[in-house]
Amino acid sequence: MTATTSPNQADPAFDTERIESAVRDNAWLHFTQMADYQDPDRRPLMLVRGEGTTVWDIDGNAYLDLLAGIYSVNAGYGRQRIVDAMAAQAAEMPFVNPFGYISVPTAVLADRLGDLAPLGGEARVFFTSGGSESVESALKLAKQYHTIHGFPHRYKTISRRVAYHGTTMGALSVNGLTDARSAFGPLVPGARHAPMSHRYRCPYCQDAAACTNVCYDEIERLVEFEGPDQVAAIIMEPVQNAGGCIPPGSPDYFKKIRKLCDETGILMIMDEVICGFGRLGRLFASEYYDVVPDLITTAKGITSSYAPLGAVLARKAIADAFAEPASEAMPRPVQAARKGGFQHGLTFGGHPVSCAAALANLDIMLEEDLPGRAEAMGAYLRNALEATLGNHPNVGDIRGVGLFLGVELVANRETKETFHDNALLAWLTDQMRDRGLILRNDSRNDPTTQLCPPLVITREECDRTVGILEETITELGRKLGTVGTAHATAAN
Ligand SMILES: Cc1ncc(COP(=O)(O)O)c(C=O)c1O
Repeated sequence: MTATTSPNQADPAFDTERIESAVRDNAWLHFTQMADYQDPDRRPLMLVRGEGTTVWDIDGNAYLDLLAGIYSVNAGYGRQRIVDAMAAQAAEMPFVNPFGYISVPTAVLADRLGDLAPLGGEARVFFTSGGSESVESALKLAKQYHTIHGFPHRYKTISRRVAYHGTTMGALSVNGLTDARSAFGPLVPGARHAPMSHRYRCPYCQDAAACTNVCYDEIERLVEFEGPDQVAAIIMEPVQNAGGCIPPGSPDYFKKIRKLCDETGILMIMDEVICGFGRLGRLFASEYYDVVPDLITTAKGITSSYAPLGAVLARKAIADAFAEPASEAMPRPVQAARKGGFQHGLTFGGHPVSCAAALANLDIMLEEDLPGRAEAMGAYLRNALEATLGNHPNVGDIRGVGLFLGVELVANRETKETFHDNALLAWLTDQMRDRGLILRNDSRNDPTTQLCPPLVITREECDRTVGILEETITELGRKLGTVGTAHATAAN
């Protein structure tokens, strides 16, 4: 199939050559070494059209997008209903100042999400324009909440090593990625990091029959050490993205965190920026773990990325605290925290066009039961991965939930020996792309191929994906010298 959209639709003066020179000299891609594009044979993939799970590049080549944009185009490409809703809103009222004003779609979306969120009913919704802003806002919200209650010194946070929660300074501080953090110190004070819960690589219990929850005990110890009355919030992803689609080692892990938060007054934040909006087989990922956090951060799938939007959803009791009255007898910071509501704002938070997109996206999700589809197709894809790659000499672990799956690649399956070779992983990604597959081979921990497609992916597309994985991972095995062994021959 070829692209029907002209690459230079935006401006006919921009032919392919001019676009390439703009990339070489002017564009600045995120987390990307732009110097690499000085090489005229290299350019980023320029995508011009999408439909369902398929995207087309500027040269007309088709790809299956197993990264769903960036874990975000949940309802798939080509949703005219979302486009129409955005166009209608832009024509009617393109912008409303969120500082004390509100648009109709913003109010309706808050109402619907407030009812749907697993936060015990009537949740309040603070809109942002993306994931980092949602995390940043949630951390500030937690700190102001504690100040309102007379604890301005509750400023510490606990998150996990290797986790990614965004790039603004607060969000970066709770990140657990050393390389992403190291250029920007000192970061926000009080950000503490606990071990991941990672069954396959667990330093405490990977060889035990079941998770022993020692990683949870470490969090408890950290809270004790830091002082429970100094910790504002614990923030975690339901399934941790960075490091490669890592669910907690035990199903009651988050319930234990909930109990710890109840006992200490720490706020529990579930960062559902990736895992929300159907990805794990539920509208909200916290539902999958049957836990009620205090705050949920979301973005990406909230509009299936047709428009930028994020949100912090707050349990009613948390939001109500912001209406507590102030009195002259209170210390100054407490008085200040009680006046004027949440002391935080963003010009584009809850943008009307984005909220119109989110409402159409939500209708699609519910009418087509995309969370249910993610559960069913996730099971199909996982079975196919296990049947085809379960014994591959370079596959150590297949894990994940719903349509958020990871295949951890190893140099030696028996010993779990890993390899850290970014050039080799880049080569693998290119091999997959050459065969028509876009996905991320995550190198932020041990190398893991991540599968995170639009929730509309079909069985045939899952089969095609697994076929390409088998071919390319076997090629990788040849490079690593593991394919061709007696074990590999038996397995393949
Ligand atoms: C769990 C999580 N939180 C926060 C963010 C930051 O979102 P954004 O890139 O929209 O700022 C991301 C981005 O991937 C994420 O995965």
